[in-house]
Amino acid sequence: MPCPFHNHHPDPFREPRHKDGILLNDFHGDVMPILLRHGDVRNAARDWETFSSDAPFKIPIPTEEDVRTVRQLPLEIDPPDQLDYRAIMEPYFNRAKLPDVIAQIEGLVEAHVQAALKRETIEIVREFAIPLQSHGLAYLMNVPQSEAETWIKWGVHVFREGDGTSKGAAMEAYAASLLERGAEKPSDDFFSALTRATFRGRKLTREEMLGFCSIVFAGGRDTIINSISGVIGHLAKTSSDFEFLRADPKRIIGASEEFFRVLSPSTHLTRKCTRNVNLHGIEVQAGQFVSLNFAAANYDPEVFDDPESVRLDRRPNPHVAFGFGTHLCLGAAHARLMVRTLLKTLCQRVARIEIIQAKDRLETESSYQRRLAYETLIVRMVPIDEKNDSSR
Ligand code: HEM
Repeated sequence: MPCPFHNHHPDPFREPRHKDGILLNDFHGDVMPILLRHGDVRNAARDWETFSSDAPFKIPIPTEEDVRTVRQLPLEIDPPDQLDYRAIMEPYFNRAKLPDVIAQIEGLVEAHVQAALKRETIEIVREFAIPLQSHGLAYLMNVPQSEAETWIKWGVHVFREGDGTSKGAAMEAYAASLLERGAEKPSDDFFSALTRATFRGRKLTREEMLGFCSIVFAGGRDTIINSISGVIGHLAKTSSDFEFLRADPKRIIGASEEFFRVLSPSTHLTRKCTRNVNLHGIEVQAGQFVSLNFAAANYDPEVFDDPESVRLDRRPNPHVAFGFGTHLCLGAAHARLMVRTLLKTLCQRVARIEIIQAKDRLETESSYQRRLAYETLIVRMVPIDEKNDSSR
C-alpha cells in the first residue's frame, strides 16, 4: 500500500543513494556534491576538522549573505570556539526540560487546539503552526508573550519567504532593540542575558550577540512550523495512526521521533572541506563545499527498514533530523516538547481531522524535488465528544 505520507512524492534520493552514494546539484551556478548515505553523513558531521562549519552565511542552503550581516553562532564556527559559544546558549535551550516551561507549552498547545475546535475550519500553517511556534519560542527565551506577535508577522521563513533582504534587515534591527532593552533593564530573558554573557573572560561583541539572535529567530522557525503541519496532515490522512497513539499515549515519544525522521524538516546543511577529499569517486578540492543531506540519510534502507513507511513504533530510530556530532541541534528538546505536547493534546481532544484543502510545500532543486510538509493545509478538527455526531 503506498504510504499516505508520501503520496505523490516518494523519496527523491532513493536511486542516487543506492547507485552512487552521492548526488551533484547545481545551487545557483555552484555545483555541490550531496552526501546521501546515513554513514557518510554521520562521519562527515563528526569529522569537523575535514568538514568545517567555519563559513559564515554559507552553512544554510541557499546561502544567506544577501539576507543577514552576522555569522550565526554557534552554527557557523568550529570547535573549540563553537563549544564555548554553545555553552552560552545552553541554559536557555535546557529550559525546555523545566516543569514550569513544560506546563506553559502544555497550556499554549491546549489553547490553540481548543481555538481550532471552535472554528468550522482552520488553516494550519498560518493560523495554527506559526502562532504556536512563535509563542512557544517566547516561553523558551523567557520573553513576554507579546513579543511573539512581532514574530508571527515574519511568516514561515524569515529569510526565504517574501522579501528576504528587507525582512532580514528588519529582524536584525528588532534583535538589536531587544538587546538594547535587555542592557538597559536587566532581566532573565535570553536577550538581556546575552548582554551580560562572557566568552573567555570578555563580554560578547554586538555582532556575536546578533549572531545568537539570528539563529534563534531563523533556525528553528520553518522546521517547527513544518513539523506541526506535517504531523497534523499525517493524522488527518491516517486515522489508524491517530487511534494507535490514542490507545496508548506512551507511544507518543517514539512516534515523535518517527515524525522527525520522515519529515526531516532540515533537508541539508553544508560543510567547507579543509583538504582535498575523494567522495565516492568525486574529487572535492580544499575550500569547496559539500552538503550533508540529513533527509536522505533518514531514508537509508541500510539503516531503516522500509524507510518510506511511517512506523510510529519504529525502534531503533537513529535518525539524524537534528544533525549529528558537535553541532547537534540545540533546539531539539524544545522541538520534541512542542511535537509531543501537540500529539498528546490532539489525542485527548480531537476525534478526527478532516482535510478540506491541502497544498504541499516543495523544495525544488536542479537534481531533485522533495516534499516539506505543507504550503497550505485547511482542516476541520472534530472534537472528541462530537465523535459519533455525523450531523455537523
Ligand atoms: C524540528 C525542528 C528542528 C530541526 C529539524 C532542526 C535541525 C537542526 C540541524 C540538522 C542542526 C545541525 C546543524 C549542523 O550540523 O550544521 C541544527 C542545529 C541547531 N539548531 Fe536546530 N532544528 C530544529 C529546531 C530548532 C529550534 C526550535 C531552535 C532554536 C530555537 C534550533 C536551534 C539550533 C541551533 C542553535 C543549532 C546550532 C547548534 C550548534 O551549532 O552547536 N533548532 N538544527
